[in-house]
Amino acid sequence: MVFETLRWIGGIDGCLELIDQRLLPAELVYMQCRTPVQLYDAIRTLAVRGAPAIGVAAAYGVCIGMQTAPGDTEGAMQHLDATAAYLAESRPTAVNLFWALDRVKARGRRFLAENPVADRQTLAEALLNEAHAICAEDKAMCKAIGDHGRRLVAHDAGLLTHCNAGALATAGQGTALSPMYEAHKMGCKFRVYVDETRPLLQGARLTAWELTQAGIDATLICDNMAGVLMRQGKINAVITGADRIAANGDTANKIGTFSLSVLAAHHNIPFYIAAPSSTFDLSIENGDRIPIEQRAADEVACLGAQRTAPEKMNVYNPAFDVTPAAQITAIITEKGIVEKPNAEKIARHLHSGALPTR
Ligand code: MRU
Repeated sequence: MVFETLRWIGGIDGCLELIDQRLLPAELVYMQCRTPVQLYDAIRTLAVRGAPAIGVAAAYGVCIGMQTAPGDTEGAMQHLDATAAYLAESRPTAVNLFWALDRVKARGRRFLAENPVADRQTLAEALLNEAHAICAEDKAMCKAIGDHGRRLVAHDAGLLTHCNAGALATAGQGTALSPMYEAHKMGCKFRVYVDETRPLLQGARLTAWELTQAGIDATLICDNMAGVLMRQGKINAVITGADRIAANGDTANKIGTFSLSVLAAHHNIPFYIAAPSSTFDLSIENGDRIPIEQRAADEVACLGAQRTAPEKMNVYNPAFDVTPAAQITAIITEKGIVEKPNAEKIARHLHSGALPTR
């Protein structure tokens, strides 16, 4: 990748630097988060977005919080818990956020149990190392998803993707876009149709930008064009990311994903979800219990600063929808590929080594 979506600068007194995705594609600007409030706002306003990237950013956010923690370890732990609880309120759907916060909290507890006389500095170092580990693992998981998924990218294929599940949504080279990057590296020629992804245009602004940077043949379409392209035989597979996958394989992803899965089923086109194991929530039996973020009316009623709907118009703006497992041809993870996902296959897959589940 020619850019890094987010990176930690310095040691325990450092800060998190991230691409301000609100400004893309017009400007590539890095912003620095030096307080939990700044990071909360960056997540809430989508300066940093995409499930894995939100998780990695939040892990570093706890480290930022530790910079103002009290000196005693009990007080520092309370401060850690309070920072994590605060950041957990930033967005509700992507489970990677909660997964990463829980992991950093657990590391803090384990560290203090193993080092009862530790001070705040050594605790902060242990937490920063955990955040670095989460970041490094995310990079490795993205690459492995690409290695497994690239065989689903056929020569001359037309692929459709929705929202942005690329490098900008992770610490590494993305989830849904990772198989494309790997196939491209191997010399495979294919075309990607990019849904613009109303209302916030992550497809038009972000996916189109990063695929173009990588030299991949990409064509932007409006969300309502997918059906006609499928009917014309231009789409051979749909690949999207995920924000949360329930135990049975039901998958929450950007609003519009469910409709694509219905269109794909109608046209007999494979529909793939690509996600790391940190996106699975086995505590939730099915997709009905996935919390769906509702966002501001202005995102739908305005285009940038320009109002496009009458004042006081009622607006419904769920940021995500749930695609039932039955509509998903396969889920690609860092461990391999789960075809026709269901609860039993997913449980076996997540507890397995690197072998694909068939
Ligand atoms: O609202 P966003 O931009 O955070 O939504 C992002 C998505 O829906 C992505 O598809 C998902 O997080 C997967 S990212 C690898």
